[in-house]
Amino acid sequence: MNVVHNRLRVTIVYESMFGATGRIAEEIAATASLRTDVSIVVAERIDPGTVLDPDLLMIGAPTHAFGLSSGTTRREAQRVAANADLGLSFEPNSLDQGVRELLPSLKSSGQGGYAAAFDTRIGTVPRLFSGSAGRHIDRELHALGYRALVPPRSFLVDRTHHLLDGQLEEAATWADEVIDRLIEASARG
Ligand SMILES: Cc1cc2nc3c(=O)[nH]c(=O)nc-3n(C[C@H](O)[C@H](O)[C@H](O)COP(=O)(O)O)c2cc1C
Repeated sequence: MNVVHNRLRVTIVYESMFGATGRIAEEIAATASLRTDVSIVVAERIDPGTVLDPDLLMIGAPTHAFGLSSGTTRREAQRVAANADLGLSFEPNSLDQGVRELLPSLKSSGQGGYAAAFDTRIGTVPRLFSGSAGRHIDRELHALGYRALVPPRSFLVDRTHHLLDGQLEEAATWADEVIDRLIEASARG
């Protein structure tokens, strides 16, 4: 007899100005896809009102002005990227829709679903001084009725916005832990 195993579904939504959060999101996706069905999508490409209803919704964003980016800080990021000395490329096509704008439209979709938030932030100062977009995402998802599977997690960049050494490995390890939790929580029902 064939045993049909329905793989759990994970959706990863992220925003990234210079690619750091995007690289973390891709690493999380690669690790999670070993044990779950993963979709990964940039926040700016999600039509408002789209229903996201996976078993686990993971949302990540860069920390801007201690929290989530806005149109103003994205424009500031675009100016930063114009400084050739920093070796940055600027990724977004839209400066008007990121995670901040997307979150309210998730209201109707995920009641009771599991969620996990992550961010990138400057790693050379304590979180108290850097702020954390992930904490904002976590709080908003909680208010929308999602259940946090794990505390929000930060991955670290240097002052020129490049990932510190070892952060992709950290992302893979974290993703494995998150998927362990998801499998345990889903088995409990
Ligand atoms: C306009 C702007 C504001 C920022 N504000 C903060 C901040 O308050 N705290 C922090 O830790 N990093 C801050 N950063 C650094 C970002 O967190 C960093 O650029 C980001 O993690 C890189 O990720 P990305 O390549 O995915 O955009 C800021 C960057 C920009 C461009």
